[in-house]
Amino acid sequence: MQVTFCRLRTHQWCFILFNVILFHALLFGADFVEEYFLHALPYVDMKVLEIKEKARKLNMEPLRSNLSKYYILSQSELCKEKNIFLLSLIFSHPGNGTRRDLIRKTWGNVTSVQGHHILTLFALGMPILVTNQQDIDKESQKNNDIIQGIFLDSAGNQTLKIIMMTQWAVTFCPNALFILKVDEEMFVNVPSLVDYLLNLKEHLEDIYVGRVIHQDTPNRDPNSQEFVPFSEYPEKYYPDYCSGKAFIMSQDVARMMYVVFKEVPIMVPADAFVGICAKSIGLIPIHSSRFSGKRHIRYNRCCYKFIFTSLETTGVEMPLAWKEISGGKECTLFETYYGLISCKLLTYFDTLKRFHMGTIKNNGMYLSD
Ligand SMILES: *[C@@H]1O[C@H](CO)[C@@H](O)[C@H](O)[C@H]1NC(C)=O
Ligand SMILES: *[C@@H]1O[C@H](CO)[C@@H](O)[C@H](O)[C@H]1NC(C)=O
Ligand SMILES: *[C@@H]1O[C@H](CO)[C@@H](O)[C@H](O)[C@H]1NC(C)=O
Ligand SMILES: *[C@@H]1O[C@H](CO)[C@@H](O)[C@H](O)[C@H]1NC(C)=O
Repeated sequence: MQVTFCRLRTHQWCFILFNVILFHALLFGADFVEEYFLHALPYVDMKVLEIKEKARKLNMEPLRSNLSKYYILSQSELCKEKNIFLLSLIFSHPGNGTRRDLIRKTWGNVTSVQGHHILTLFALGMPILVTNQQDIDKESQKNNDIIQGIFLDSAGNQTLKIIMMTQWAVTFCPNALFILKVDEEMFVNVPSLVDYLLNLKEHLEDIYVGRVIHQDTPNRDPNSQEFVPFSEYPEKYYPDYCSGKAFIMSQDVARMMYVVFKEVPIMVPADAFVGICAKSIGLIPIHSSRFSGKRHIRYNRCCYKFIFTSLETTGVEMPLAWKEISGGKECTLFETYYGLISCKLLTYFDTLKRFHMGTIKNNGMYLSD
């Protein structure tokens, strides 16, 4: 082997090198281009300035004093006089107490990273069965980490849920620098996420970051549950938006969103709704391929130490991944490199497999998929 290797001619070496480069370009090229070159600055016009001004002057007092009109469980004191770096709002279904317990025991248990305070709360609506409310009350008394809005927690009310929870954040947690919206099916690597946010430190404003979805089209099938009529949203495409499975806003963005919520059609999918709001305040979503969107990333130790999120379906990998992140040994540069290649390839294969089984609805294109 050694001997044959040494005997390769220059053009053979060139060929090998070319293939290695091609392999990496195919695997990571799109991510790289998107993350480092496709950054556009937010645009600012008179309307945006006006919204910024309104957001600065938001008066949440009427809401505070009429609290019971909006929230059943409000945890209104949790943020008081604390400097919160990251507020994680985990969107959870009222009936999924077991899932919430698993999150509490794993990634939701992080309270500080590098000395920065993390607050993790569960965001719920009302259960369909009234009897479930008693369980939620009990769970809330025990853990003090549930916010519950007054609206039915149904698939059709997810946009309303985002509005209610953003409202909660700007009202009761105005000192949280960043707000993470994440679904309960996700695994989140909080330490690596915080590390990334700390590196944005020069500007803490105008942040709306996640896995960006390009040129998603509204569902125009009148028989579908997610039907979006032309009267509601006439454009061909949604603006670029961050996948709703997990994304981050800075506090100023949350406040501006809150100002424009009322001006945007509500009958679109919740994550597209946020994207439309972002566009109307001149924001361009920042892409990071370390967010998984709605894909499951196969477990690999060093890969999981690098990524921010993965869709978790079984509940088996989560304790494992958590153990590694909270205490496992560091990964060397080479191990991280190897981990990324292997989890990227495996994720490709998983996607292909699902594609062949025809379970992928082709809505929205990931540039880097
Ligand atoms: C409570 O809400 C009502 C409108 O629904 C508003 O007129 C009133 O000012 C609010 N209460 C307080 C004390 O701000
Ligand atoms: C949570 O509840 C919803 C609706 O009740 C269900 O579809 C979903 O599978 C549950 N998710 C988890 C992770 O338990
Ligand atoms: C959460 O973390 C704390 C230490 O920060 C630890 O004492 C506690 O046991 C953990 N809770 C769970 C449920 O793992
Ligand atoms: C959303 O919540 C409201 C208030 O609880 C309820 O009246 C409405 O039926 C819900 N909408 C859907 C689509 O479930």
